[in-house]
Amino acid sequence: MHKLIQKTMVSYKELGLVNTREMFAKAVNGGYAIPAFNFNNMEQLQAIVMAAVETKSPVILQVSKGARNYANQTLLRYMAEGAVGYAKEMGCEHPEIVLHLDHGDSFELCKSCIDMGFSSVMIDGSALPYEENVALTKKVVEYAHQYDVTVEGELGVLAGVEDEVAAEESHYTKPEEVVDFVTKTGCDSLAISIGTSHGAFKFTPEQCTVDPETGRLLPPPLAFDVLEGVEKQLPGFPIVLHGSSSVPQEEVDTINANGGCLKAAVGIPEEQLRKAAKSAVCKINIDSDSRLAMTAAIRKTLAEKPAEFDPRKYLGPARDNMKKLYIHKIVNVLGSDNKLIH
Ligand code: G3H
Ligand code: 13P
Ligand code: ZN
Repeated sequence: MHKLIQKTMVSYKELGLVNTREMFAKAVNGGYAIPAFNFNNMEQLQAIVMAAVETKSPVILQVSKGARNYANQTLLRYMAEGAVGYAKEMGCEHPEIVLHLDHGDSFELCKSCIDMGFSSVMIDGSALPYEENVALTKKVVEYAHQYDVTVEGELGVLAGVEDEVAAEESHYTKPEEVVDFVTKTGCDSLAISIGTSHGAFKFTPEQCTVDPETGRLLPPPLAFDVLEGVEKQLPGFPIVLHGSSSVPQEEVDTINANGGCLKAAVGIPEEQLRKAAKSAVCKINIDSDSRLAMTAAIRKTLAEKPAEFDPRKYLGPARDNMKKLYIHKIVNVLGSDNKLIH
């Protein structure tokens, strides 16, 4: 076993994975976006692959640094290889599956992922001073491109409500910087900041208005003017949106009705994501919605069957609920169904 993992490098091509180049070009031209779903465990991975196969959609499997620590890097690499085999077993002859590092924070982490079979990496230097972000991203691109691995860079800071700068215009991507960044770094896609943020609490109640009919919080709109500015500077260049969960209220309600306590959870309305998907945005990142769908199903099952202790009896419904969510995103929000090349 030890000898097996000591093999110096594995190419993603040997694992049946693909990079993002061709799928992004097709998505930008076709006016849809590729789903980038994070996974940390087998049930999430099964649900993602089932949803992608059933809808005939390309898909990006995202692994964060935290996921890699949680699930073990070696196991994850075999799970991704298994995902390709699983898709084929379900009848998809040519699955288009990317294994992507989400929010890589160092050259060493990106290199390690590339060496272990990732087909795409993100180097997130967005919190660094501009020139340092350029230098770090360029270094990752130079290494990655030797192996035909694609690289996502980021310009502009995605904020969280916890640091009190959520959706602040001063942190949006500056359209006047993007050409310089892309030219100097050679990155293949660019994550931008237009008002989305990570997690299930994307806006404070003070930033929202209240829907008079439902009493729900309505968030402020995304900065589509910034997105248009970026598109003008970089026509046809693949743009990425992080922090794109919609925080479905029915999942939040199920969690709260079954012992949970999620107050004032707010996401990005789906109609805004639909609009973004039709633009140069060709990758949309969703993690929190899957967490909510999983937690809601587990809480409901355990509340209804308090004597249940076989994990398959609550992880199974959780997997079903996540699959339903992924299919909904693919078909009704991103429009990536029936877009496999072969
Ligand atoms: O962008 C962050 C993703 O949702 C991953 O989150 O670092 O908790 O795995 P994580
Ligand atoms: P959400 O927290 O909105 O799902 O965003 C996920 C993400 O951007 C992963 O990189
Ligand atoms: Zn992100």
